[in-house]
Amino acid sequence: MRDQPWGVSPFVDAEPDLAHHGDAEASAGLVDLAVNVRRAPLPTWLAAPIAATLTDLARYPDVAPARAAVAARHRRHPDEVLLTAGAAEGFVLIAQALRGVRRPVVVHPQFTEPEAALRAAGHTVERVLLDQADGFRLDESLVPADADLVMIGNPTNPTSVLHPARTIAALARPGRVLVVDEAFADTTGGADTGEPESLAERRDLPGLLVLRSLTKTWGLAGLRIGYLLGDATLLSRLAAVQPLWAVSTPALAAAEACATPVAVQAERAIAAELAADRDHLVARLSDLPGVRVAGRPASAFVLLRLPDATRVRAALRDRGWAVRRGDTFPGLGPDWLRVAVRDQDTTDAFIAVLREIMEA
Ligand SMILES: Cc1ncc(COP(=O)(O)O)c(C=O)c1O
Repeated sequence: MRDQPWGVSPFVDAEPDLAHHGDAEASAGLVDLAVNVRRAPLPTWLAAPIAATLTDLARYPDVAPARAAVAARHRRHPDEVLLTAGAAEGFVLIAQALRGVRRPVVVHPQFTEPEAALRAAGHTVERVLLDQADGFRLDESLVPADADLVMIGNPTNPTSVLHPARTIAALARPGRVLVVDEAFADTTGGADTGEPESLAERRDLPGLLVLRSLTKTWGLAGLRIGYLLGDATLLSRLAAVQPLWAVSTPALAAAEACATPVAVQAERAIAAELAADRDHLVARLSDLPGVRVAGRPASAFVLLRLPDATRVRAALRDRGWAVRRGDTFPGLGPDWLRVAVRDQDTTDAFIAVLREIMEA
């Protein structure tokens, strides 16, 4: 059973540690199923432009080429793009720039940084907790009508749920900023289907801000690169609180390279392969008695509920495997774990160890 009822909760009893992230669990020497960053060598079309910047670091960064490239990718005007040092910086800019909002709401369970950034900027945050019995699907009626800032992830970390674009779009309205964290949108869909529920190209929705990350699929977490898409006037308020030259020249080179048709095609192939690997993981997990996979996973990770998850996680660590604890996400508890989708051999080895631990 869930620890808290679903619905709006201005405060919860056992406060989860919003500052905890999977990298804290992926100690050296462990097989890392805790962090959702893809591990693969950089393709030449990405590595070469990044490397080329190393001879040109005396100059301050020029965002214009990357901004134009990202805008073209998402069929937007360059003024509708703000490059950031990872999606994480985007949350901080939103929280700092929109200090005037009265009723900010974060839809959980989700990545904890949006709420952490809001709180750090002095906002009083309300949580909407989605119901696990409903597969953590979005019920728009749970979001208070007068919420003037709403933050949601799609697909959502850690539930891996992909909400329909129309359900999220229905949250947009005049007088409200709607932030959709699409850090994992490029992991959805397949070779021919594009990103099925992305709002990145939608220019008709009032107050929409879409956050994107290039750190996950392209394994660039250490480079720090992402961007915001949205109305030019709204973005200019965010840009006004961004530190000067926040995004480095190598990061801008990566953004430009990742916006090309070659990159988008490669992303689609990776998403298709990921879908097959995810189906394999879900099938193997479903063979394990007592393990329940949440919702219909659609991203690079799967959320599980299993008895004695704290003991299981510790035993996995002892056997060399790191998985992500679930109890630091508002709306989850100690019986949840998040597991990254990896290649099928890694999954099979993981399942064998998990089975042994659960049967012990
Ligand atoms: C859902 C989600 N959004 C945003 C981020 C931040 O990504 P970035 O590395 O681009 O700052 C993360 C990182 O874990 C994430 O899981």
